[in-house]
Amino acid sequence: MGKLIIVDHPLVQHKLTIMRDKNTGAKDFRGLLDEISMLMGYEVTRDFPLCDVEIETPLTPMVGKKIAGKKLAIVPILRAGLGMVDGLLNLLPVAKVGHIGLYRDPETHTPVVYYCKLPVDIEERTVIVVDPMLATGGSASDAIRMLKEKGCKNIRLMCLVSAPEGVKKVLEDHPDVDIYTAGLDEKLNERCYIVPGLGDAGDRLFGTK
Ligand code: PRP
Ligand code: URA
Repeated sequence: MGKLIIVDHPLVQHKLTIMRDKNTGAKDFRGLLDEISMLMGYEVTRDFPLCDVEIETPLTPMVGKKIAGKKLAIVPILRAGLGMVDGLLNLLPVAKVGHIGLYRDPETHTPVVYYCKLPVDIEERTVIVVDPMLATGGSASDAIRMLKEKGCKNIRLMCLVSAPEGVKKVLEDHPDVDIYTAGLDEKLNERCYIVPGLGDAGDRLFGTK
């Protein structure tokens, strides 16, 4: 079974509270999501294996550590996932970026696919799927399934705010995937929005409402 890892670093929690506040505007919301994504990146990459490398400092030869040949991809779920890409790229500048476009049907709340463009060698890469909101889990679960259909074997999911329902769905549908989140909230409301949540992440990020 996959794990749920809650990133409870004080800086992450502080910034998340500002993001949740309805008085925080799009510019600050974007900046904070970018900063939190970079901070969460430390946790998401914590188990990356290291290998020994021989180098010479100005004083002496030594054996240092480097990340062991990781090929990475960051895959945002459009739209709101876009807001988490740059923060991660700051830490992982050689990662390739794929895009999966999904929106929730407003009536059924089930995801509808409208776009998918992935690196050609995606199946060889460790994939970090990013989306600020894990609500019913339908979008994340479908995105992960699409990646598995392309041959991906090593996938992790990074979300800002999660509902228990979404966590359960992803862990059940994809027991090999770990979920990293900054907030595990109480529940979904009747419109399948996360409560207390932060509202509609895409609209707040791009100022579309
Ligand atoms: C939001 C969010 C997730 C999805 C989560 O996207 O960014 O992708 O809903 O809900 P789920 O877990 O119930 O599937 P939305 O469909 O609003 O699209 P947008 O990012 O384009 O606004
Ligand atoms: N999508 C959002 O943007 N927010 C929610 O609370 C649920 C789905």
